[in-house]
Amino acid sequence: MKNPPIYEHLLQKLVRVYEGGLDPGLTDFQMPAAAYTDELQLQAERRLLRALPMAVAHVSQLQTARSCLVHDALGVPIMVTRDREGELHAMLNVCRHRGTRLVEESGFCKLRKGFHCRYHGWTYDIEGKLLDVPRQELFPTLDRNEYNLISLPVTERFGFVWVVASPAAEYDFDAFLDPLQPDLGPLNLESHVVFRRATTTARTNWKIVMEAFLDGYHVRHLHHKTVGPYFKDHRSYSELTGPHVRAIVGRGGFLEAAASGSIDDIRDIATPTYVIFPNTIFVAQPGFVSRATAYPTALDEIYWEHDLIIPEAPTTEKAREHWEVNYELIQNGVFKGEDLWVCEQIQKGLRSGANEFLTYGIEEAPIQWWHEELTRRIEAE
Ligand code: FES
Ligand SMILES: [Fe+2]
Repeated sequence: MKNPPIYEHLLQKLVRVYEGGLDPGLTDFQMPAAAYTDELQLQAERRLLRALPMAVAHVSQLQTARSCLVHDALGVPIMVTRDREGELHAMLNVCRHRGTRLVEESGFCKLRKGFHCRYHGWTYDIEGKLLDVPRQELFPTLDRNEYNLISLPVTERFGFVWVVASPAAEYDFDAFLDPLQPDLGPLNLESHVVFRRATTTARTNWKIVMEAFLDGYHVRHLHHKTVGPYFKDHRSYSELTGPHVRAIVGRGGFLEAAASGSIDDIRDIATPTYVIFPNTIFVAQPGFVSRATAYPTALDEIYWEHDLIIPEAPTTEKAREHWEVNYELIQNGVFKGEDLWVCEQIQKGLRSGANEFLTYGIEEAPIQWWHEELTRRIEAE
């Protein structure tokens, strides 16, 4: 793939960092440790997450008619379906009669028709429209049109299915996602597939996790047994694009390779990494991408969901093994074994009083930008 223009821009910026250091306007800073242990703060953060678009699936996972995803990580029971005309629908997984959960299991499933409530037998079609109320004469004032499942805003963009977990007629997805168009648009992820979805929990505050992915400083230290050797003497560059953070980390030999002027794909010499505000990590690896989202389920717990997305489904054993090795390295080696692991180590000492403040250097500046955006949005709620 030829470099999209945004990669040329990142290449120039990163060369400047290697040659002259980071922007002299950046300063080191601190965050109060109390920000990670405050229950009221967490409630405000979870409310905000439910008001923002979440990439809950890759389109290939909800491609066929009657496919369905049941997703509970936001603390709201969400269902996403694809109807026979190819339209997506998102709704709450809650019967409108007395509130029974309609599809019990979380995860992907295939619907036969629509939804049938086990309690009193109300049925809904795949779009959430109420079809049948057994013995409807028992509800002399009920208007069936007012008892469809509660719908949520949903759209497809960049090959992902985005849902907002707050009931509303519509949401301006474009305003939120347009700043990522130069980066994610040219990747054509619509035609890709998911090799595997990993889900796990980790005993840590979600903000500690997001900070780990906004930090170019740790790569060769924390990851020295896995991908660190590829990033020998690495430098990183970050900037904001709308509320999101766009960053790039150079690999060993970056400067020499960049100077040669013959880089067709920047991913051969550096790794573009994004935090799609507020809780999605997107990494453009060489030949594949990782989309991971960290959902806070408690003050000291996250639910982690990672889709390893590849250009096409493997058709040979060799290809399958190749992706298996990458999955093992990235999900179990790097993300779970190192990034989430170190976040759990931080969590264990958060309330010890050792650090009233956590301290950050200038290569960790995106952490501050991200906290500022989070605070601004919570205060505006
Ligand atoms: S609660 Fe669903 S039909 Fe009664
Ligand atoms: Fe990391």
